Amino acid sequence: MKLEYEELLKDVGKMSPKPNMLDYGDIYQNFDWKEIEGQLKSLDDGKANMAYECIDKHLETELKDKLAFIWEGLDGAIEKYTFARFSEETNKFANLLKKHGIKKGDRVFVFLERVPELYVVFFGVLKIGAIIGPLFSAFGPEAVKDRLEDSGAKLLITSPNLKRKVKSILHELPDLHHLVIVNKRGGPVEYEDKDICYEKEMAEASTSFEIEPTNREDYSVMHYTSGTTGKPKGVVHAHQAIIGQYATAKYALDLKEDDIYWCTADPGWVTGTSYGMFGPWSNGVTQILYEGGFNASKWYQIIQDYKVTAWYTAPTAIRMLMKAGDELPGQYDLSRLRHICSVGEPLNPEAVVWGEKAMGLAFHDNWWQTETGAIMIANYAIQNIRPGSMGRPFPGIQADILDDQYNPVPAGEEGQLALKPGWPSMFRTYWNREDYYNSRFKNDWYITGDKAYKDEDGYFWFVGRADDVINTAGHLVGPFEVESVLIQHPAVAEAGVIGKPDPIVMEVVKAFVSLKEGYVQSEQLRREIRVFVKKKLAGWACPREIDFLDSLPKTRSGKIMRRLLKSRDLGLPDGDISTLED
Ligand code: PRX
Repeated sequence: MKLEYEELLKDVGKMSPKPNMLDYGDIYQNFDWKEIEGQLKSLDDGKANMAYECIDKHLETELKDKLAFIWEGLDGAIEKYTFARFSEETNKFANLLKKHGIKKGDRVFVFLERVPELYVVFFGVLKIGAIIGPLFSAFGPEAVKDRLEDSGAKLLITSPNLKRKVKSILHELPDLHHLVIVNKRGGPVEYEDKDICYEKEMAEASTSFEIEPTNREDYSVMHYTSGTTGKPKGVVHAHQAIIGQYATAKYALDLKEDDIYWCTADPGWVTGTSYGMFGPWSNGVTQILYEGGFNASKWYQIIQDYKVTAWYTAPTAIRMLMKAGDELPGQYDLSRLRHICSVGEPLNPEAVVWGEKAMGLAFHDNWWQTETGAIMIANYAIQNIRPGSMGRPFPGIQADILDDQYNPVPAGEEGQLALKPGWPSMFRTYWNREDYYNSRFKNDWYITGDKAYKDEDGYFWFVGRADDVINTAGHLVGPFEVESVLIQHPAVAEAGVIGKPDPIVMEVVKAFVSLKEGYVQSEQLRREIRVFVKKKLAGWACPREIDFLDSLPKTRSGKIMRRLLKSRDLGLPDGDISTLED
């Protein structure tokens, strides 16, 4: 068995006071999703609505006047929303959408900075039964266009600044009927034909709205994710995903009603919706929302000032905190923290153990994907952690390791990580790509695209991706998307993109390009190409390194061999090159 980090394998981890899950083995054996459904409110007669489960159901309880969230802006502004206020604001936005003809099943996208209005519009869309697609505010025009075009989005909610950034592509989207402009900071705005002024119409909208009686299988949220080939694909979830998000927030993240919880993930990423919205709010938990990105001192200060008790973050952020030094956490009062979790990339054992040293708590790693909608494998509060392992399957989830014929392999053997389909938060389709969706299921298993192995005790250990998708600081980047943009640059003839290992962000994007006749390689051209990609896609998709080659290795059918680019770059053996062109 390949148990690396032997010396760290002694169990570590301080148990939370009375975890919600008291006995993993017992619950796993006897688990029934029906019991979880009984704890939710809107699931009678095949119905479910995520907005009701997260907000309006609390109006019938003493949680009505509890804070749903405290938001801190980049400028230090603070806003507080009770569940009652949150309900009224989301009702108003649902009325605004109705007035402008948005109906159940329509696709509505939000491209906003992380401000309270992002959360208001998000749940307003769910209340009307439309499908909400969140976009990272860091996206450039090309990334936004790909998603709006593919989904046929009817309405986009954005800010004056972000609209300006993507203005060049807006006229190329015939399905896009309206833009709602949220002018949070009140600067001058020029409204154009399709534009709706958020502030004006919200002031006029009614605070009453009857939530669309959506069914469990009605679509609710779509997140675009990257694959090895082609453009990003729209992963579609249904309203009943809330069953999985509620259960995992309670039993994997161990959230309790009196927690102050902070999820650092941006809502453009599935972690920012499943666990920055659905999981905590369906459990009635108060969240801290911070507009800004990573900053070690600021992050410790947030934990201290808001008395954060439960925290969900990502390995790159943890490694950056480690880099910022062991003394820094000691300068803040982090004593309220009782449970800390991590997701998105492999969490190295050193980082798990560092948590114990710096904060008195070990990070609980867990594993899942956009497609799974909720946590599938986790280290639980009740048990000590195995540093470096993703943990064990969530109750109700059957996970295994399969060989190339899709049959389970014995413990200790590496293979494809697979899940038995049928859990409530499983994605329902890739938008307009049913064939690709079907191709992800083999032999009655959902094939995750990750390689892993499990040990004798049923703990799962991540090995790597089975495809070419690059994971940079938790962002999945499809090499094809970056290559497509690279070859739009006037100097670039061909491009191949790989993920290059990096100690902090796991992988960085590295590009290999050959130039067109008449262009000469130079530092300036390299910079120009990088900025070109950054502007069109996003900062994290921009190649950190670019190598100029006379020509790229290709198969006889003309496909660029990324695998070969990678092995040569890393100084590894070439492997099978029988398909390489002469
Ligand atoms: O490769 C795995 C990695 O991130 C992928 C899923 O990314 P995404 O769809 O963006 O979902 C993000 C929400 C979690 C996985 O296929 N990954 C995720 N968690 C872990 C991980 N790799 C190693 N360890 C993890 N805990």
